[in-house]
Amino acid sequence: MKSLQIDISDANKLPENARQLLNFAGELKVFAFEAEMGAGKTTFIKALCKALGSKDNFSSPTYSIVNEYLTPTKKLYHFDLYRLKSAEELLDIGFEEYVDSKRYCFIEWPELALSFLPKPYLSIIINVKENNRYLSAQIIE
Ligand SMILES: Nc1ncnc2c1ncn2[C@@H]1O[C@H](COP(=O)(O)OP(=O)(O)OP(=O)(O)O)[C@@H](O)[C@H]1O
Ligand SMILES: [Mg+2]
Repeated sequence: MKSLQIDISDANKLPENARQLLNFAGELKVFAFEAEMGAGKTTFIKALCKALGSKDNFSSPTYSIVNEYLTPTKKLYHFDLYRLKSAEELLDIGFEEYVDSKRYCFIEWPELALSFLPKPYLSIIINVKENNRYLSAQIIE
């Protein structure tokens, strides 16, 4: 199976939905969230971090490019590239080392970073229709 669709409209089911996505991803660690403003990217990433056992308080990384979270086994990284102006800024923070680290990297607004992502990675789209949200994930090989 190369793609997954889940209805993520019910906030109570986000822990279960996060596990579904992690199961689908298998060994894949780099997740690019290509979804519109306010679609629920940060909220879903928060659920993923919890599902992976992250105990840190999670806040939206609005003012920094990358936030690190500790899980019982490994660190994971949450990137918000909304304010990024050029790909050069990514290289300056060592972006390639993060995405090659085999640790989870959850990336919001990944457009400027796509060419640096090692394949295969997971491309995630969230569609909002009225009060419902649908997540689709696709493996990019
Ligand atoms: N699955 C969901 N069910 C119900 N409400 C949700 C869901 N996901 C997000 N929301 C709500 O939608 C709003 C935007 O969510 P969030 O900040 O996660 O979006 P985002 O895609 O990260 O936004 P941005 O584009 O600003 O980074 C929040 O008020 C949040 O509570
Ligand atoms: Mg966000």
